[in-house]
Amino acid sequence: MGFITVCILFGGRSGEHEVSCRSAASVVRNLDPDRYQQVLIGIDREGRWHLQQEARFQTASYGESLEVVPAVDNVTAVPAVGLFAASRPIPVDVVFPVLHGTFGEDGTVQGLLEIANLPYVGAGVLGSSLAMDKQKTKEIWKQCGLPVVDFVTVRDGSAGSIATLLKHFGFPLFVKPVTAGSSVGITKVHSEEQLRPAIAEALRFDAKAIVEPAIDAREIECAVLGNETAEAFAPGEILPSHEFYNYEAKYVDPEGAALKLPADLPENLKREVRRLAVAAFKAVECSCMARVDFFLERRSNRILLNEINTIPGFTNISMYPKMCEASGLAYPRLLDRLIELAIERHGRRSSLHYNL
Ligand SMILES: Nc1ncnc2c1ncn2[C@@H]1O[C@H](COP(=O)(O)OP(=O)(O)O)[C@@H](O)[C@H]1O
Ligand SMILES: [Mg+2]
Repeated sequence: MGFITVCILFGGRSGEHEVSCRSAASVVRNLDPDRYQQVLIGIDREGRWHLQQEARFQTASYGESLEVVPAVDNVTAVPAVGLFAASRPIPVDVVFPVLHGTFGEDGTVQGLLEIANLPYVGAGVLGSSLAMDKQKTKEIWKQCGLPVVDFVTVRDGSAGSIATLLKHFGFPLFVKPVTAGSSVGITKVHSEEQLRPAIAEALRFDAKAIVEPAIDAREIECAVLGNETAEAFAPGEILPSHEFYNYEAKYVDPEGAALKLPADLPENLKREVRRLAVAAFKAVECSCMARVDFFLERRSNRILLNEINTIPGFTNISMYPKMCEASGLAYPRLLDRLIELAIERHGRRSSLHYNL
């Protein structure tokens, strides 16, 4: 078999631009050079796509990152045909959107790639957009009988909204944008005075904010891989050293969180986490991969679903590749598998009839 050309999309308009550049640097380093050719497209903060002549690495305090180098001509996507730069076709067999957050992980780029008729890694349009919306995801999980933390959604910080929240929950609370990631816009609220500013902060990032009680819990994560027959790997645990697993703990402070792989859990709880991870993945129509995050409430030992990430962090020290590795699937082999799954799903979709 000849080389497969993988197009890596990185950067993007979301608050997670830098994280994406770091994840992409690791993907570039780990793609097997005997199997793949790489094409890199860097997306700047305004959303323009730039074909990269080469991978330009920069070393940040927290490891390697890819730079988005501006090109004269922007990349365009042509319906049913593919990607172009300066009116020339870009050869692509499969796209790997290594993008986090809005306009990357939320179904928008996935829709563009569907229309361009290109196979891509990660969930499809519906799975991506549902998983990005914490409210819709939790509503669906609840409806499927899966355990979630109680929540209320608000669209403004008016006195009415505040009164509703106070009726529902005591303090501390968590206030988060419904669609965001990397803990951007999230506040742990300890008193009534802090509530309105926290809602205003979350609403800077989305039209809706989700409010829920703070759970005193261990944070457990589980990697899911596959299409129709998805499997879940041994769960890992995050031990944040900050008040919660905030942006600093995730990406700024090298000592912000310890990862425990595999998580130290009794066998029955490990099994239950894996079962719930696959059920949560299927409930929101995910495919290819996702990292499912849980709370294990300390006082009750209850496992609660928190969220699902369809394009989890992919740096060398990120949980998703680490959890796969801990279960025997090394990073380069994980990439092989993701590319196979992307091509398989595209093949299946292409064989469907869209008219009589
Ligand atoms: N209800 C909650 N109880 C306790 N901690 C929470 C709660 N919601 C969020 N957190 C903390 O905030 C972090 C980020 O929240 P999360 O819902 O995972 O959003 P993001 O998509 O930004 O990662 C979690 O990893 C956890 O540390
Ligand atoms: Mg999270």
